[in-house]
Amino acid sequence: MDEVARLHYLQDELKRYNREYHELDAPTIPDAEYDALYRELVALETRHPDLVRADSPTRRVGSLDLRRNVRLVRHFEPMLSLNNGFDVRDLQEFDRRVRTGLGVDEVAYCCEPKFDGLAINLLYRGGDLVQGATRGDGEKGEEVTANLMTVKSIPRRMQGSGPWPAWLEVRGEVLMLKQDFEQLNRRQTGAGERTFVNPRNAAAGALRQLDPAETARRPLVFLAYGVGGGSPDFELPDHQDALLRWLGTLGFPVTEEIRVVQGESGLRMFFEDLGARRASLPYEVDGVVYKVNARKAQQKLGFITRAPRFALAHKFPAEEALSTVEAIEVQVGRTGTLTPVALLKPVFVGGVTVTRATLHNDEEIRRKDIRVGDQVWVRRAGDVIPEVVRVVRELRPAGTTAFEMPLTCPVCGSPARRLPEEVSWRCSGGLHCCPAQRKQALLHFAGRRAMNVDGLGEKLVDALVERAWVREPADLYRLTLEQWASLPRMARKSAENLVQSLERSKETTLARFLFALGIRQVGERTAHDLALHFVTLEAVMEADETHLQAVADIGPVVAQSLRDFFSAERNRQIIAHLRAQGVHWHENVQESQAVQVLAGLTFVLTGTLAHYSREEARNRIEQAGGKVVGSVTRSTHYLVVGRDPGSKVAQARKLDIPVLDEDQWDQLFKEIKA
Ligand code: IVH
Repeated sequence: MDEVARLHYLQDELKRYNREYHELDAPTIPDAEYDALYRELVALETRHPDLVRADSPTRRVGSLDLRRNVRLVRHFEPMLSLNNGFDVRDLQEFDRRVRTGLGVDEVAYCCEPKFDGLAINLLYRGGDLVQGATRGDGEKGEEVTANLMTVKSIPRRMQGSGPWPAWLEVRGEVLMLKQDFEQLNRRQTGAGERTFVNPRNAAAGALRQLDPAETARRPLVFLAYGVGGGSPDFELPDHQDALLRWLGTLGFPVTEEIRVVQGESGLRMFFEDLGARRASLPYEVDGVVYKVNARKAQQKLGFITRAPRFALAHKFPAEEALSTVEAIEVQVGRTGTLTPVALLKPVFVGGVTVTRATLHNDEEIRRKDIRVGDQVWVRRAGDVIPEVVRVVRELRPAGTTAFEMPLTCPVCGSPARRLPEEVSWRCSGGLHCCPAQRKQALLHFAGRRAMNVDGLGEKLVDALVERAWVREPADLYRLTLEQWASLPRMARKSAENLVQSLERSKETTLARFLFALGIRQVGERTAHDLALHFVTLEAVMEADETHLQAVADIGPVVAQSLRDFFSAERNRQIIAHLRAQGVHWHENVQESQAVQVLAGLTFVLTGTLAHYSREEARNRIEQAGGKVVGSVTRSTHYLVVGRDPGSKVAQARKLDIPVLDEDQWDQLFKEIKA
């Protein structure tokens, strides 16, 4: 295709995607792909300005569905788009243009999350909500007042005692919280109705309901991010952050995740901070928005075509993308669980290339009807394992067949079994027969949170099991340096390090040891609770189910699993062999009890700590029995602040919750230990 043909092609395609997105609430390509095509079109149109049609997607904001019988209303001030940035270069370029435009060296920006919902314009007269509309084409939107009136977080009347502007357009985003979205989809599935791809489409669908009573049944929330037109005689706050705070005092929900920063480095820090916390936010964000904070400066910079010069949307890497299922493989886990995994055509999503996604179990595959050959939406949020969200049924090739779980273990050939109360199939071969289970069990045993043996990765474990050098964990301690050094790709120095690390691992704790055994249903937390309660391994091994259930959070299923494990002669031998190799721990009651003292306390962390990463800080608190949550509420006991804390500090002060710096936090541990 030559350039001109490509340009026309892109204009048409993007128009179609716009319609699917804005009118049908059913996009068929991921946002990131749309953005890439859009950028390509902009580049082509720059080279061929004569070919830019008035209705080109680059000249229009969103689109309008003229077939639907809805009333269109004109916004007082157009609802424009934001220019998008995707990398540091775009960000530097934006900051440079702003500085040049204003003739200054450094600019203060208000940074906000970019909510992934639906843009809404609310018109207030004398403090009363009189009209609500979607963005539409930016000039005119669909009037959805009755539907918006059912959204509880939209004030029907501005709060406070006024004076309020004679009229004002309040702008923001209507969205669905992640947890509400999941619940809605479960409800839809139960009722045999279609499920939604993501919270944004669910929110859009809810708002477009012709019957407001139907909208009211969908859990929508509103977050304000600015204003449109307003009566000229009313003076608005002169900075964006102050404007948002002012909107907050009028009763509009405003996010706490805003920050005023200086210059490009400040923008970058905000982007990274919010990006790291993206998965734990209660709503979806697809990037951050930077706005020049001083509104006078915003006016001075003005607009280009369809977007302001004073703002930039800096997008996060895509979290959802389209890929193809090339095969479905069945993996065997540590306890024999058979887990189907989709092998995918490599796809870049959420900042990494994804080639595999867990399908959980065959029930899940049946529910989503996933088949080899299908095009599927793949999702990766934060550090979470990628998953297949949905099949694009319209794109299913002919001749596909439904997936069947194998009747035997794909590794050792033993029959697969499923207990009546379980969703997963298991290999019945156990550790003795099934090398896959043995490998996984060894990897678990050596893991960082278990015996913490450095350098024992998957490849090495494969080699050990294949050579039958290691049949039980104690065998790891029996291997000689020569044997280690003779393994493929094993330098002598690495072998020495491994032997040393194994030697070090022999001194452990009872909790780690119990966890390392890989008993079904016994995670790190349960192992820890068991160690605390029973103090010695012998006591755990001899405890009957009643005694076991005396431990908090241990119920009949876990108790039964522990009994089964310790009553098996083979498992008793495995333990005896490990102790014979010198694995030991201190049965120190004092220490164990000290650990428990943070129990019942809830912490919130904010900002960067000097001596601990977020994860380390969280572990430290959790290991001491405390809990870490994401936001400050009345039930929070302490807020721990590091460098560059967020707005949580203000929230804690408001609720009278103690704010500790890192040293004070440290002190807390010492006081408790003493
Ligand atoms: S300000 C003139 N702030 O992003 C600029 N927009 O591409 C007005 N959005 O449809 C927009 N979060 O609905 C602004 N914190 C935020 C936002 C935000 C999400 C949406 C907005 C608009 C789109 C622009």
